[in-house]
Amino acid sequence: MDKLKIGLIGLGTVGTGVFKTLAGFDNVEIVKIAVKNINKPRAVEVPSTMMTDNPFDIVNDPSIDVVVELIGGVEPAWDYISTAIKNGKHIVTANKELLAKKGEELFNLAEEHNRVVLYEAAIAGGIPIIMPIKTILAGNKINKIQAILNGTTNYILTKMDVDGASYEDVLKEAQALGYAETDPTGDVEGFDAAYKITTLATIAFKTRIKIENVYREGITNIRKEDMAKANELGYKIKLIASATIDENNNADVRVHPMLVSKDKMLAHIDYVTNAVEMSGHPIGDIVLSGPGAGEFPTASSVVGDILAIAAEFGKTDYMLPMMRCHHDSKAMPVKIEDTFNKYYISITAPNALGIIAKIGTICADKNISLSSILQKGVSEDNTADIIVITEKCQEKLIKEVVSELEDCIVTSIIRVAD
Ligand code: HSE
Repeated sequence: MDKLKIGLIGLGTVGTGVFKTLAGFDNVEIVKIAVKNINKPRAVEVPSTMMTDNPFDIVNDPSIDVVVELIGGVEPAWDYISTAIKNGKHIVTANKELLAKKGEELFNLAEEHNRVVLYEAAIAGGIPIIMPIKTILAGNKINKIQAILNGTTNYILTKMDVDGASYEDVLKEAQALGYAETDPTGDVEGFDAAYKITTLATIAFKTRIKIENVYREGITNIRKEDMAKANELGYKIKLIASATIDENNNADVRVHPMLVSKDKMLAHIDYVTNAVEMSGHPIGDIVLSGPGAGEFPTASSVVGDILAIAAEFGKTDYMLPMMRCHHDSKAMPVKIEDTFNKYYISITAPNALGIIAKIGTICADKNISLSSILQKGVSEDNTADIIVITEKCQEKLIKEVVSELEDCIVTSIIRVAD
């Protein structure tokens, strides 16, 4: 039996997991591995003849059938992947940033050369989500996704909640434990989740979403006081990647913190676990949950993609038609100002007569109905902390409310999940 020949670009945490896992399969063989530094000590023993520090040794090697790209980032990954496709190789990648920023170009190039690009590991690590959407859920019209797609931020928010600690203190601890990067920007500012929801929504909605149209806010302004108040009111605060689409192809895709009711499953997805909740017809509502990162969970998805190619390789001229990706339509973006949400607003107000009445009047004048209002006494400095939760209203009206609350300091505004 001819083995499927793999060239691996990147032997970090995920690459090492893929190397170890593939050792258990005799229909697939890693023939070359490209790394930055050949002399670096590794967790796996790799014969030196298999190693190169030049990824072009892989993408230009005629004996290699599949290039597995595990280095991330747009460049030089795009250079390697596009060269590999032009050289007739199939691609397996975990590169969410490349998919979000150059997905259209990538899939068009692959189609032009009759090659497939599989990327199960790029979205929610070990959770099977792309393959199920493309295959067994293909008969559905999915119109809503709410997901926790970033383990680092979910870990930080969970620890803030459990320990009553500040964002800064938990981040430091998470960095010391290796859960957060030294430069955490990509995770904590929501970029990672934005890349993932861009591709996930494109696949689920069967229409292309552009990353430029994805609204993004991170978790750096979440205060431990908000965590405590949210809990008291029956919510958890989570970084939610959400996407909805209407019958006119208007897509509202975003990443930002949200209060999630404790009645919902997403409120109980803690630490580094990821989860994707989807609604569609005829399936109804489903939730898939599991490890969103890590050596073996991510390797599980990469190896699954490799084995899907191995199963068809050499048997057909047009491989894996259901897994291919071509979108003729592009979604119309919905601006965040035009969206309708419920809001949690935390206000520090002077302890004066009629403050609550004033907040109520400003909201009522804009047709904004309030669903909860909470004040517990008055502080020593004669101010009062007031929490308001609104019913659904338009985002631009909430901005007007804040600007009209002249005597008050608005300390937080956080959207509340439906
Ligand atoms: N940095 C990501 C996370 C994992 O924290 O979930 C890789 O996508």
